[in-house]
Amino acid sequence: ITVAILAGGLTHEREVSLHSGRRMATLLREAGMQVKLLDVDASLLLHLKAMSPDVIWPLIHGATGEDGSLQDLLTLTGIPYVGSAPNACRLASDKGIASEMVSRIGITVPHAMSIPSALFREIGVAPVLELISSSFTFPLVVKPATGGSALGLTIVESAADLPRAMVDCYAYGEQARIEAFIEGRELAVSVIDIEGEPTALPPVEIVTDGPYDYDARYNAGRTEYFVPARLSDDELAAVREAALRVHQGLGLSYISRSDFIIDKDGKPVFIDVNVAPGTTETSLLPQAVGAEASVRGVSPDQLYVDLLT
Ligand code: DAL
Repeated sequence: ITVAILAGGLTHEREVSLHSGRRMATLLREAGMQVKLLDVDASLLLHLKAMSPDVIWPLIHGATGEDGSLQDLLTLTGIPYVGSAPNACRLASDKGIASEMVSRIGITVPHAMSIPSALFREIGVAPVLELISSSFTFPLVVKPATGGSALGLTIVESAADLPRAMVDCYAYGEQARIEAFIEGRELAVSVIDIEGEPTALPPVEIVTDGPYDYDARYNAGRTEYFVPARLSDDELAAVREAALRVHQGLGLSYISRSDFIIDKDGKPVFIDVNVAPGTTETSLLPQAVGAEASVRGVSPDQLYVDLLT
């Protein structure tokens, strides 16, 4: 079986994606697959035509890699790919839309508001800042409505820090999402198809000595991970169930990773979902796959290979 891994691209998470792609290529080659890693540019379709792979694994993170654009193109090639259908990607990758849909299926989401950058031009800076300050208590979270790896995200402690956070956020996109800050434990739950059945993997708990920002995500040793998360059996079951419902409720397939905060009452609060989760050495999905593989007594490669065949 020949696999084309797509990585790089022109998103803000380009470097992370190249890293994810290289690591997955190594793993799949070790598992005996023929793998070509493509750094995606305008000649993508020509490369795919020349290579004619049996399957494509798009590992481009953020923007065009997760918002359905790439998936639309792959659908046109007729070559099967690992990942969700274009429309499901579009819904999932917009944090506002995903959160609205997840809330409708009964999963708790933080109080949130979308602020397009155009609103500042339309009604003025002071009224927008006042609108935000009067709708939330501090700290609050400012983040781009699309994108990942915590780029453009700030936990804002006071109104004085809000303008700077908004400017940082708009560097990554036109739409800002303001969220209530939820105190609690940070957790990621990956869902992958195992023998054709979506299966929630062991939750990964994230412990940092500050925000789980870009640096804490990708510099080994900055963050401690616990797999499975240090929760009661009931809490573990509840968050796994929630991730599975997000996956199914948003019509996702093959692979997704939902991020949650477990609040002080032990309830999972949905933060966001990724349709092309990172697979770097410090990423969350590979840790969950490793834990699931050891529970099943198989090698992690086998679970990845299962996704491709
Ligand atoms: N957006 C990054 C790659 C992740 O969620 O793993």
